[in-house]
Amino acid sequence: MHKVIFDTDPGVDDAMALLFLHHHADIDLLGVTTVFGNAEIDVTTRNALFLKREWKIDSPVSRGAGETFIPHRVSHAPPKFIHGDDGLGNIGVPEVTDVHPDPRPAHRFIVETVRANPGEVTIVAVGRMTNLANALKEDPEIVDLVKEIVIMGGAFDVNGNVTPAAEANIHGDPEAADVVMTARWPVVVVGLDVTMQTVMTRSQLADIRDAAGTSRARLLFDLSQFYIDFYEGLVDDGMVVHDSCACVYVVAPELFKTRSGVIRVVCGGIADGQTIQKPDGRGFGPSDWDGDLPSQKICTEIDAPAVLKLIHDVIVSVRED
Ligand code: BDR
Ligand code: CA
Repeated sequence: MHKVIFDTDPGVDDAMALLFLHHHADIDLLGVTTVFGNAEIDVTTRNALFLKREWKIDSPVSRGAGETFIPHRVSHAPPKFIHGDDGLGNIGVPEVTDVHPDPRPAHRFIVETVRANPGEVTIVAVGRMTNLANALKEDPEIVDLVKEIVIMGGAFDVNGNVTPAAEANIHGDPEAADVVMTARWPVVVVGLDVTMQTVMTRSQLADIRDAAGTSRARLLFDLSQFYIDFYEGLVDDGMVVHDSCACVYVVAPELFKTRSGVIRVVCGGIADGQTIQKPDGRGFGPSDWDGDLPSQKICTEIDAPAVLKLIHDVIVSVRED
């Protein structure tokens, strides 16, 4: 079993990733922590509670950061044109009053859960890295207690999706991302280099809905339509399943190729939020990639058809609501 904390900003592709984790037989979902990003923190937390209720997820939801690691940093408006005004494709998410968040803030939930399960917890982070940076600040010793950090974010050998340089989750809080990538815990980054190749078509999503035959899968289908419309013209008739790729890495790393090296994040200037790896074994002059910094992995290749098939199979594996 993989013990997982899912750090997320739901978010349409976040929702699919959550259902994948919830339905996977080898995942023990210890908790869901929310962060601002695809919508404001009130909205992403409400959405996580809504999905917890609709999909009957027992794991606690803990509310996380609503502003950047360095307070008052220039911040960016939520991408409502991608995920909708309600963050879940304008399905009209109701206020959730009968399901309550865990009393602890997300960074403390992370620290306490990691300490309670030393060496066992994988954190899958698919929003801004703010909660992880706050957890490290509160308790730096957790670097030795976490099994692995799997991040959806960054763009290494390709352009970003917010600016030519930067991907959204990193661009939204570059200082937090630099803290997380340079900490001495094992990090794997699943960035746009591989996620942009992983497009679920409209008909594949409809197949999931029909094969599962559940209200869970119908909700997933419905909330994804606005996001698919956004991707029209950018990809072939479908949706990029960014966040699910990171979840798939946890259970099927053999579907990816990786490259190791120190990762830094550009903080400020025109390339704000750019992620740059110094590949191991490559010589350069002295730089900010030197010193006591850990080598981390980035994904360079993905078996996209196999990843999409696994997402399908796992989501339809539960045929009751
Ligand atoms: C990432 O940004 C968010 O919009 C998505 O949920 C995903 O985590 C893609 O750049
Ligand atoms: Ca996300």
